[in-house]
Amino acid sequence: MSPSTNPAPRPYANAPRLPESELVDPRALLGAGDTPIELEIGPGRGGFVIERLASDPLVRILGLEVRRKWATIVDDKLRGLGYGARARVLAEDAKQALPRFPARCIARAFVHFPDPWWKKRHQKRLVLGEALVSELARVIVPGGEVFVQTDVAERADRYEALLLANPAFVPYLESPRRAENPFGARSPRERRAMTDGLPIHRLHFRRLPD
Ligand SMILES: C[S@@+](CC[C@H](N)C(=O)[O-])C[C@H]1O[C@@H](n2cnc3c(N)ncnc32)[C@H](O)[C@@H]1O
Repeated sequence: MSPSTNPAPRPYANAPRLPESELVDPRALLGAGDTPIELEIGPGRGGFVIERLASDPLVRILGLEVRRKWATIVDDKLRGLGYGARARVLAEDAKQALPRFPARCIARAFVHFPDPWWKKRHQKRLVLGEALVSELARVIVPGGEVFVQTDVAERADRYEALLLANPAFVPYLESPRRAENPFGARSPRERRAMTDGLPIHRLHFRRLPD
């Protein structure tokens, strides 16, 4: 085959991934033993993961980012900052990865500003739906938490209804809504929304015992 007919190399073909085995314990990737870890779904440029690690030396956090480019860049950055032993960002679709995890391995799940798609044909791409909420109910420990943020009011209403419809979850405080982010770390989109003066809708739920 002449060089001109070689296919172009796939960008970020070596992006960090979960091990290939069908079942994967994410705690083992972070040396956490039996201790539940934190999870961020769709960390994008990774600002929340990095600030969260800086805010609490006990935090171990896994990011699942479907975009290979950002998973690669952020995972490298974590290593460069000396956080490689207690944090990874892997190039995975959370909807496919979570079913491979054991039950009760996650202490907190964060989903910041998911689902920026509006067209009907993009509905299949939405990450935070009924199936993902069911998986979160399975992987989060009793007493564990889910924290979701968005700047789109209708999306917040939809996510709130989805979480309220799952009997495993109850509002963390009296209301599912939180005025502030209590986790000592902000996502890049959260910072941008704050700079732009956009309202941020925050949802905070607790996982009940079975
Ligand atoms: C609007 S961006 C928000 C990024 C970041 N959470 C923030 O708040 O700055 C949504 C992110 O979710 C990622 N994403 C979308 N669907 C995903 C999925 N099924 N699994 C993992 N990541 C996903 C996108 O690639 C993107 O990085």
